[in-house]
Amino acid sequence: MDASLHKVINSDTLEALKTFDVRDDDIWLITYPKAGTTWTAEIINRIQQAGNREYVVAENSLLFYPEFSLPGRKPVDEEFADKTSPRIFVTHLPGECLPSQLLQKNVKVIYVSRNPKDVAVSFFHHHKVDPFIKDYPEWSQFYEDFIKGEVPYGSWGSHVIYWWNRREQKNVLFLTYEDMKKDLRRNVKLVADFLGKKLSDESISGITEECTFQNMKKQNLHKKMIENVFKADHSQSPFVRQGKVSGWKEYFTVAQNDDFDQRVYPEWIGDSKIQVEFQ
Ligand code: A3P
Repeated sequence: MDASLHKVINSDTLEALKTFDVRDDDIWLITYPKAGTTWTAEIINRIQQAGNREYVVAENSLLFYPEFSLPGRKPVDEEFADKTSPRIFVTHLPGECLPSQLLQKNVKVIYVSRNPKDVAVSFFHHHKVDPFIKDYPEWSQFYEDFIKGEVPYGSWGSHVIYWWNRREQKNVLFLTYEDMKKDLRRNVKLVADFLGKKLSDESISGITEECTFQNMKKQNLHKKMIENVFKADHSQSPFVRQGKVSGWKEYFTVAQNDDFDQRVYPEWIGDSKIQVEFQ
């Protein structure tokens, strides 16, 4: 399982996460990579800190990324045990690798899904700054591995369908990148309501404005991490890059698109009836 996840995740961390003590008031943001994690994390962070501008300015100050076993990190139980509630975890781990308590407790799970064609293109760009992903000189090589699920975190299909099938549980909020693009304010409000935060219309509008693509682009989110941990050039593929729906059309060949629509996608979604917007 480790090999198909990410090179910086080790088996000890994975084992520890399975039995990790979650708290009733934890918030877990779960996504397949490149689905809008940074965007949604910023929204959640702002909602949680509404009224306290100091925290909001500090980048991702209260967000925890549990699976990365980077040098110097403590074992997960130790690292998060003394953090103040509510803790906000951000993870790309597939459902079966998450703590077994996650669905038993009152934890709030926010899952963000994005159409897999745009995810693939975004992921292809991301590999240029992530030294833990194998090198892909050409898009076509990345595409081949993506459709086989041989990229970090495995197949888009099983990742998303796991949460699609659980989207009606009361502790799960299933969002889509495409809907956030269409109506960000409504989605900010949805998240605030789900987290039980009664925010004024003005606060909701303020958070929406701060989380538009243009405003987030200015913040250079994760620049330090790309430079200091990945040792890469942030401008090659910033976390806030292009922010479009249907950017895939500039990358997918007609043959790839036909193969994806007729073979890969139907296999991935099975009989789930998930609705994904590709346009
Ligand atoms: P693109 O590479 O297609 O531009 P993640 O945070 O999960 O790694 O996802 C990154 C993707 O989300 C990138 O997609 C990035 O541009 C997009 N994104 C980040 N912030 C955004 C925002 N405020 N509005 C729209 N898209 C955003």
